[in-house]
Amino acid sequence: MDKFVIQGDCQLRGEVFVSGAKNAALPLLATALLTDHPTTLHRVPDLADIRALLDLLGDLGCDISRDGETVTLRVTDESNSHAEYERVRKMRASICVLGPLVAKRGYARVSMPGGCAIGARPIDLHLKGLKALGAKIHLEGGDIVVTADRLKGTSLFLGGPFGSTVLGTANVMMAAVLAEGTTIIESAACEPEIADLAHALNTAGAKIRGIGSPRLTIEGVEELGRIERTVIPDRIEAGTFMMAAAATRGDVIVRDMSLDHLMAVTEKMREAGIAVDPVGETAVHIAVPGELKPVDVTTQPYPGFPTDLQAQLMTVLALADGNSAVTERIYPDRFMHVSELLRMGANIRKDGAIAIVTGQPELFGAPVMASDLRASAALVIAALVAHGESEILRVYHIDRGYQRIEEKLAPLGANIQRVAE
Ligand code: EPZ
Repeated sequence: MDKFVIQGDCQLRGEVFVSGAKNAALPLLATALLTDHPTTLHRVPDLADIRALLDLLGDLGCDISRDGETVTLRVTDESNSHAEYERVRKMRASICVLGPLVAKRGYARVSMPGGCAIGARPIDLHLKGLKALGAKIHLEGGDIVVTADRLKGTSLFLGGPFGSTVLGTANVMMAAVLAEGTTIIESAACEPEIADLAHALNTAGAKIRGIGSPRLTIEGVEELGRIERTVIPDRIEAGTFMMAAAATRGDVIVRDMSLDHLMAVTEKMREAGIAVDPVGETAVHIAVPGELKPVDVTTQPYPGFPTDLQAQLMTVLALADGNSAVTERIYPDRFMHVSELLRMGANIRKDGAIAIVTGQPELFGAPVMASDLRASAALVIAALVAHGESEILRVYHIDRGYQRIEEKLAPLGANIQRVAE
């Protein structure tokens, strides 16, 4: 396992380039299961999670070729439709093969994803949607077994106790594309990644309307043609670099991103005294002209403030001049970063799904443990701004969602070494 050794007291300066979105690329890769034609995706990031899903898609009969950031897949063998525990336990987003498999092959056996560092990751809404489309579902040896002759379109409500479900919407939408008749999904996820997925399916002959809205109308078709799509920029990676620039009071331009996908984040950062200025259509300039101010933030489904940037913002607020309330409404337990930030001198008090952050003038380097992918990114940001040296253990968590983050931060002036542990 690798660790990062990071020297603090850093002010990031310069420009950094964002990769394609992990959370768009994952369901887009799964669309290869829906068609007999090739699926070609451009700007696919080279991440552990992407490699894990490509391994699984290989198990499920896809021939795969990769040329730089372009990945081409084509199903040549539909005989295996079992996504095994060994694969799924490493990457719960593997669940996004469920909808395409049962829609195209009439059968899917997918290991129930276990929990993870940010809490229980139920799939009850995924199953509710597939059952509404006429699938038969039972549990066998820890696997979900889903069968259907031909799925039938219907109207269904997909919201749950925490609002909409991103991968649940992806699964049900992909299944409905090949169903007989029309499906209406109410309370669908509106995340840009889901819109990207719907546009990709429509280029292959799907008939999805209401893209980007909470109501998706999907007219089932007999088959899909060739899928081709350029993955949208990773808004969470972009936001992570924006927060790193703010925490280090640097002067950074984040390029190849879409500010439209980060309106709630921009609003909150400006409220905290951070200058967020568009540079053309696909870049943003970050600086901190004065003091960092405390803000209250609540995570919500898109277009609200994303849970995937909650930890990174908390690191910024740990340095603000006052008290901030951070409320986590998507994953109430998603505070693995708090105990590690406390080790670095932050003053944070957790009370259920709310963390009260009392800003401090400085943080201090320390050995800390990475956990969930985004909490780990927050620790990298804290280590950059802390006094002295920090070690971040188990950086494989970070490699799941950030393409060699140390190679992107070094040109900005970060002193960050990857060391084999
Ligand atoms: C996606 O996960 C993202 N992952 C997550 O990003 C992100 O945190 C999450 O959406 C929320 O935005 C990918 O896209 C690969 P959900 P997903 O279903 O789809 C509850 C990262 O760091 N729920 O939208 O699995 C669930 O427990 C990852 O890149 C049910 O109750 O999340 C949660 O509280 C971490 N029943 C809420 O809904 C279900 O059937 C939102 O979950 C499904 C979800």
